[in-house]
Amino acid sequence: MFAAGFIQRRAFSASARNLSKVAVLGASGGIGQPLSLLLKLNPKVTELSLYDIRGAPGVAADISHVNTKSTVRGYEPSSGGGLAEALKDAKVVLIPAGVPRKPGMTRDDLFNTNASIVRDLAKACAEHCPDANILVISNPVNSTVPICAEVFKAKGVYNPKRLFGVTTLDVVRASRFVSEIKGSDPADENITVVGGHSGVTIVPLFSQSNHPELSSNADLVKRVQFGGDEVVKAKDGAGSATLSMAMAGARMAESVLRAAAGEKGVVEPSFVDSPLYKDQGIDFFSSKVELGPNGVEKIHPLGPLDAVEEKLLEACLGDLKKNIEKGVAFTKA
Ligand code: NAD
Ligand code: LMR
Repeated sequence: MFAAGFIQRRAFSASARNLSKVAVLGASGGIGQPLSLLLKLNPKVTELSLYDIRGAPGVAADISHVNTKSTVRGYEPSSGGGLAEALKDAKVVLIPAGVPRKPGMTRDDLFNTNASIVRDLAKACAEHCPDANILVISNPVNSTVPICAEVFKAKGVYNPKRLFGVTTLDVVRASRFVSEIKGSDPADENITVVGGHSGVTIVPLFSQSNHPELSSNADLVKRVQFGGDEVVKAKDGAGSATLSMAMAGARMAESVLRAAAGEKGVVEPSFVDSPLYKDQGIDFFSSKVELGPNGVEKIHPLGPLDAVEEKLLEACLGDLKKNIEKGVAFTKA
């Protein structure tokens, strides 16, 4: 009697506190460390689970001293229960594991290394936290997201509403670049960016913003499409965007958690299993996605495009199709 009551009280208090375990896979890396720190500062995160093939217990020990309430645990393949324990009961899993670009490389050049890393981590997610929201950061996102989908399908646990390619950085960049031109506050510059996450597959829709004339500013369009290259070049061999990506990843995770907690009207553009271009054989596409307690709630259509954007979209779809097919073919092989 006493035991049953005790168990019930524990179960009640756990749900009342809305436990949100968030896992970061690749937590010791350039993105993983600042992302984990930002997640530690988020009161919606109750447990932070940091996994990497090396160094995660050290990162976890360091971050665990930050005086917010969440608990932090670090896992390596051979310690603390490894990946299985890191993923158990996770509500959100962020995946920044994998190698970054060096100058002269495209994101697709990372495929040979990162495809198998993401495939293996996706397998573990499918086994140990099939209901979690999976947020894929590892490049090339246009291919790694389809890889995750195929792995989940093969395990019979694919839920298209729970799989996201993180394209938030493109939106963050677009608003910042516009604010620099206009001398405005980036918070007031809401720029929709659609398509995928690399080069010409990134399509900013300035015609729908406060500054429709900017769609004919070819330099700005190119800067949004190739913003990642700017950082790769400036870091000169030491990697790609990490700090701005950490901010973007933390924002995406926060949005997923807000929606999971019942908040209405949470919209984040992200690369998801989308009906928008399936008739052209393109199963994944990034557009504005409304989030809800079950993940993807509603996928917004693109809305009206001007002539410049129509052309950009055409170029995007061609590349995107190939990137997606490459990911699917890799997993099937
Ligand atoms: P990094 O090399 O600094 O860190 C990667 C981490 O992944 C390392 O700590 C490494 O040990 C770990 N790792 C490798 N294999 C692993 C495995 N099997 N399991 C767990 N961890 C593993 O790289 P980074 O700068 O953090 O970038 C990571 C990835 O994110 C790259 O692929 C990069 O291109 C991508 N990225 C994406 C975006 C985006 O907008 N989606 C933005 C920036 C970077
Ligand atoms: C970015 O957009 O910064 C990332 O995709 C990293 C890269 O390779 O550019």
